[in-house]
Amino acid sequence: MKYDINNLTLDEKLSLLMGVGFWRTNSCNGKLKQIFMADGPLGLRMSDPEKSPNGTLMPGTVNLANTWDKEMAYLCGKTIADECVENDVDILLAPGVNIKRSSVNGRNFEYYSEDPYLAGTLACEFINGVQDKGVGTSIKHFCANNSEYDRFNVSSEVDDRTLHEIYLKAFNIALKAKPWTVMCSYNLVNGVYASENKPLLKGILRDEMGFDGVIISDWEATRNHPRAVKATLDLTMPQVQTIEDLKKAVETGYLTIDEIDFCVQNILNLIEKTENDKKKVEYTLEQRHANSVKIGKESIVLLKNEEQILPIKKGKVAVIGDVTRRVVSTGTGSANVNTLYKTRFLSDLLNEKKTEAEYFSCENCAIYEKTVYDAKNEVEAAYDADTVLMVVRNEVEGEAYNKTTIKLPLGVEESILNVSKYNKNVIVAVISGGAVDMSAWIDKVKGVIFLGFAGEGYNEALASIVSGEISPSGKLSETFPLCIEDTYCGLYRSNPYYDMYSEGVFVGYRYFDQYEKDVLFPFGYGLSYAKFEYSDLQLEKINETEYNVSYTITNTSDVDAKEISQVYVRDVFALVSRPPKELKNYSKDFIKAGESKKITLKLDRSAFEYYSNNSKDWFVENGKFEILVGSSSRDIRLVGKIDVNLPEETQVTQYHHRYDRMLLKRFDQ
Ligand code: BGC
Repeated sequence: MKYDINNLTLDEKLSLLMGVGFWRTNSCNGKLKQIFMADGPLGLRMSDPEKSPNGTLMPGTVNLANTWDKEMAYLCGKTIADECVENDVDILLAPGVNIKRSSVNGRNFEYYSEDPYLAGTLACEFINGVQDKGVGTSIKHFCANNSEYDRFNVSSEVDDRTLHEIYLKAFNIALKAKPWTVMCSYNLVNGVYASENKPLLKGILRDEMGFDGVIISDWEATRNHPRAVKATLDLTMPQVQTIEDLKKAVETGYLTIDEIDFCVQNILNLIEKTENDKKKVEYTLEQRHANSVKIGKESIVLLKNEEQILPIKKGKVAVIGDVTRRVVSTGTGSANVNTLYKTRFLSDLLNEKKTEAEYFSCENCAIYEKTVYDAKNEVEAAYDADTVLMVVRNEVEGEAYNKTTIKLPLGVEESILNVSKYNKNVIVAVISGGAVDMSAWIDKVKGVIFLGFAGEGYNEALASIVSGEISPSGKLSETFPLCIEDTYCGLYRSNPYYDMYSEGVFVGYRYFDQYEKDVLFPFGYGLSYAKFEYSDLQLEKINETEYNVSYTITNTSDVDAKEISQVYVRDVFALVSRPPKELKNYSKDFIKAGESKKITLKLDRSAFEYYSNNSKDWFVENGKFEILVGSSSRDIRLVGKIDVNLPEETQVTQYHHRYDRMLLKRFDQ
C-alpha cells in the first residue's frame, strides 16, 4: 500500500470524501495524487478550462446497443480511453446502463436498452475496453433513474422483484467487468435519495452484488452528506464548501471513525488503481475517427425497404436535408462531445462509391426554419429525381428534460409528406436518440433507416449502407411503439412526487408481448440486404439449469452480410406472472452469401430464474421452458422445449407463490 490511511488527519480524511472543483479529488495537503474525472459515454467531454475541449464523437450508446456487438462496445471503450490517457483523465464517467423504461426519457441516447441483458453485456465490454487501458469507469446512474423530468425530486417506486429483474440487472451483469466506481443517481428510490439509501448502496450494491469499489454521487446528488457516508457513498462530487457537517456528525457520534475510514480506504485504493503502467495511447486521431465510423456502420438499422429500394444502384438521387452538412448527431448535456471533425457532404461521399447512381445535393433545402423558397427547392429537386434520400433530425434531446413527443417535429413531417407527393421513391434516414412515432408518414415512403446518433462519421457510415457497400446489420435495442399513448408510461406521470413503476417487470417488449399489443417495430428488429434461414436447433443439457443452444444460420441470398440472432427463454407454466419471453443470449455473425454457420450459445441458471419478493432470492421454478431462437423478438424461427427438474427441497412452497403472486397482482391487471 503506497498510501497509508494512518498518515491522514481526521480533517484530511473528511476532505477526501468530497471533490475539489468540479472534477478532482482532494490532495490532502499534497499527500495524495488527485483523481481527475471527466464525462462520458459518447467520447471525452473535457470541461476543464485548462484543457482543450475537443475529442472524437463516438456513436451514441443507443447505437452501440443497436450493433449488438460486444467487439464494438470494447472498441468504443478503448478508443475513448485513448483520449483519457492523452488528457490525464483517470476515470471516465461512463457507461450509463439505465433501462429505457420510457421512450420520452431525454437521456435515452446515452443508455443501452430496454432489456437488461443486452445493456449489461455490452456495458461489460465497454468497461473492459476502457479499463484495459488503465483508465477507470463509473457505471451510472444507480439506480431507477429512468426519466429526466424532475430528476432531483422524484421517487421511483419499484418493488423488489422488478428492481432485481430489470433495473439492477444491467448493473449486476456489468459488474463482472469490475468497474472501478459506480455513480449513484439523483432520484429517490422508494422514498429515499439514492445517495443516502443504505439498503440500496450497502445492502444491495455492496453486500448482495459484491461491489467493492468507490461509490460516487452524481454531481450534486448528495443532499445530506453524513447520511450519504452512513450509506457507504464514498465520494461526493463536485466540491462541497465545508467539512463541518461531517465533523459534527463524527462529534455527535452519528458517524463512527470506522464508517469514515471505510470510505477513505476505498478512495485510497482507487488512487492506487489510477497509478498504473497500462496507460498507452493506441490510436491516432484518424484511427479514432475510423473506429467511430466502424461502430456507426454496424449500428445503422434498416427499418423499411419496400420493393428493395435500397441499396440504391442507379438513377438520379436527390439528397435532401440540412443536417447532412454538419455534425449534429448527438444529444445535449454531459454526454455532449466537442468534435473538430467536419463531416463531408453525403452526396459527395455517395458519388465516390462504385454504383451507377448519381447524387445531387439539395442540402440547402433547410428542413428547419424553412422559407417558402426552400420548400419549393425541395419539392422541385424531388420532382426531378428518380429517388429521394432525406436525412431528417428529431427535436433536440438531452439531459435534464424529457421529450414532449416521439414524433418528428411538425415541419419535418410536413417536408416528408410534401416530398412524397412529388416522388414515389422516398427514403428517409432518421437521426434520433430513440424511438420515433412514424405514423404520419411511414406509409408514404419506401425506405426508412434509423441512424440514431451515429457519431461524427455518420455520413460515411450512411453512405456505405445506401450504396450497398455493406449490408445493414444493426437491430433495434428498444421497441418502437405505434405512438407514445400506447406505452405504459405515456408522456407525463400523474403524481407530482412519485413515479409508480406499476407495470412491474413488464417493461419494453415484455409489456407489448404480455398485452399482445401491436408495435411499429419490435425489439430486436432490423432488415438486411441478405436473407437468412434458421435451422437445426439443438439443446445440449449440461445440468438442470445449464444448456448449450446450437442452431445453424444460412445466408440464402447473394449478399455477404451479418445477422444478429437472439435467444429468448419462456417459462411456459409459471406460478407467478412472468414475461412471455426474455432475452438471454445473442450473437452477431458474418455469413457469406450462400454459406451457413453453426452458432452455439450458452444458457446458465440466470436464464430461467426470477426474483422472489418473498424469499428475497433468485429462484428457478420446476417445469417446462421454451427456448426461442429469433431474428427479432417477434420473428421467432426455432422453438425448443426443456423440462427443469430440480430437487423438491429447492422449490418454494405454495404459500410463497401465493405471496409473490399477490405482490404482482396490482401490476398484472
Ligand atoms: C450527470 C452525470 C455526469 C455528471 C458530470 C451529471 O449532471 O447526470 O451523468 O457524469 O453530471 O458531468
